Amino acid sequence: MSLLDIHVLGSPVLRQETRPVETVTDELRRLVDDMFETMHAAKGIGLAAPQVGRVERLFVADVDDHAIAVFNPEIVSPEGNAKAEEGCLSIPEVYGDVERATHLVLRGLDRDGKPFELAATDLMARCIQHETDHLHGRLFLDYLGVFKRRSAMAKWEREKAKYPALRRTLISARDLAEQHNEEAL
Ligand code: NI
Repeated sequence: MSLLDIHVLGSPVLRQETRPVETVTDELRRLVDDMFETMHAAKGIGLAAPQVGRVERLFVADVDDHAIAVFNPEIVSPEGNAKAEEGCLSIPEVYGDVERATHLVLRGLDRDGKPFELAATDLMARCIQHETDHLHGRLFLDYLGVFKRRSAMAKWEREKAKYPALRRTLISARDLAEQHNEEAL
């Protein structure tokens, strides 16, 4: 497994429509593993393929120890409504309140390419909506009102200086530990 760079706001791939996956190949399963590893290293609860520069319709999520990988996700019968703060691994340090359905049914293909259905609520439902949006080029910022969006963008203007190549390179817990050991020497 390996850590992937995360594309940040400004990278065109984040605004691209993804392509449905016809067949889940071994290469795509490796991508799923790498996306899980990357998401965990970044301390996120969801990660969509465009965020690692890919155009496949795929996301991974891990909410309350329930991990899912979904190809070609579709959201069916969303219900309820709640506003809560969201962030995004592609827009570090920027947050905003977004209204989302509280209950939904997710349909898609699992890691083995088998169709499945999952009834999700609350944070998992929110995460599924956020990640599915990524697969259609939509970001949580798009839901903010004019003024909130303007202040979020002002914050991002300061943050984005940290990512001149529009990529976030993560460091694994193991590498971090080794670095600290070297420093200790
Ligand atoms: Ni996101």
